[in-house]
Amino acid sequence: MNSRQRVLITAPGGYDKLQLENLPDDAFMLGGKTTCDAQSACPEGHVAVQVHGAGVNYADICIRWGLYGSYKRFVGYPGTPGFEFSGTVQAVGSGVAQFKPGQKVFGVTLFGAYATHVCVPASQLFALPSKLTLDEGAGFCCTALTAFYAIDRLASSRKGETVLIHSAAGGVGSMLVQLARARGCTVVGVVGRRAKATVAFGAGCDAVVEKETGGIATKAAGEISWLPDRPTEPLAGKNLATALETAGCLVGGKVRDNTPAVGPFNAVFDANGVATLRMSYNLLAPTGRLVVYGFHSMLPREGGKLGLVSWIKLAWDFVRTPRFGPMALTSDNRSVMGFNLSYLFDEQEALQESMKSLLELVNRGELKVSTVTTFQLRDVAGAHASLESGLTTGKIVLLC
Ligand SMILES: NC(=O)c1ccc[n+]([C@@H]2O[C@H](COP(=O)([O-])OP(=O)(O)OC[C@H]3O[C@@H](n4cnc5c(N)ncnc54)[C@H](OP(=O)(O)O)[C@@H]3O)[C@@H](O)[C@H]2O)c1
Repeated sequence: MNSRQRVLITAPGGYDKLQLENLPDDAFMLGGKTTCDAQSACPEGHVAVQVHGAGVNYADICIRWGLYGSYKRFVGYPGTPGFEFSGTVQAVGSGVAQFKPGQKVFGVTLFGAYATHVCVPASQLFALPSKLTLDEGAGFCCTALTAFYAIDRLASSRKGETVLIHSAAGGVGSMLVQLARARGCTVVGVVGRRAKATVAFGAGCDAVVEKETGGIATKAAGEISWLPDRPTEPLAGKNLATALETAGCLVGGKVRDNTPAVGPFNAVFDANGVATLRMSYNLLAPTGRLVVYGFHSMLPREGGKLGLVSWIKLAWDFVRTPRFGPMALTSDNRSVMGFNLSYLFDEQEALQESMKSLLELVNRGELKVSTVTTFQLRDVAGAHASLESGLTTGKIVLLC
């Protein structure tokens, strides 16, 4: 086996489009397309890293499907996905004083992390704190930065507020739960299956709702108990809020029956898309903020390919996706916000400030990657299938 490899997505499609490609002996990935010989000539201001692990994000699956705008714009096919990694510094370019060969690091790259060797601007790299293992470091940046941007820069969630977090046991979701908790919010998490409640509570949820049945779980003295008298109805706006209030899960939450619906949450974080967006909006209290950062419910959970049925569903879901008009937002006193971090790589100051805040939380033991499941680089298809299934908790990392 060659000691340097990368995953190449040859063209949009299924798992068969994920191929391992050998790299020349001295090559480091510089973004998702090109390589450089950073061992002997590391570019100015850059750092060359031998990769330990690369985080797998839902966006990588969208890239493989051909649905990710920024990848098409910045890389294209064939190319190498991957936003984040951990590893050991191999070489530094001129002007880099803060890193030295042999140092353990982690960081972000605008694609190309699914590889054994990467080269990135020093500003996108961070010293690995003693509280994080290399596995955890590989899967930290994207989920933590996404959650931080959503809760700090957009929702501005603060002590005493009540927030609802969808997919609370997932990568970004479990980070959001921890950040909300660290800010003194009351946190209600939503999960797709009851088995995920343990992870959601572990991240810091005060109550957990199971999406399919509307079942509500609370935790006392370390024991998770599902309220026995909950009607088994799919999660819906008013019945969820009423049930949570009845169960005593909403401290100071209010459910009112007037129109437009007024909910108990100061902020809702939703990456489901059409399946829950309207409900999430209706669950907002006056001045509430709905932060939208993904649309995964529009996409298939198995098979790896987007067939005709998937394309029809995508088109239909696109048409059905709620539109929030400025007049309604004004009279409802609510905000709807969205963002995509892959278009924000130029915001270097925000990256430094955000990572500084996040690493302070890590060092205080208030923020971690909730669980890490590892796959070998050669089993990248297995890693994609697993995340795509919607059954995983925490973070998936490829060992490179
Ligand atoms: N805007 C940005 O800058 C940005 C950055 C990073 C991630 N994201 C988005 O954040 C979301 C979470 O990303 P992640 O990498 O951390 O993934 P993840 O949360 O670890 O996994 C996705 C979760 O979504 C839920 N889900 C609902 N419908 C699904 C479907 N049809 N297929 C698969 N999963 C489905 C599942 O949880 P439950 O069933 O428990 O709900 C699943 O565990 C994704 O939508 C991603 O695109 C956005």
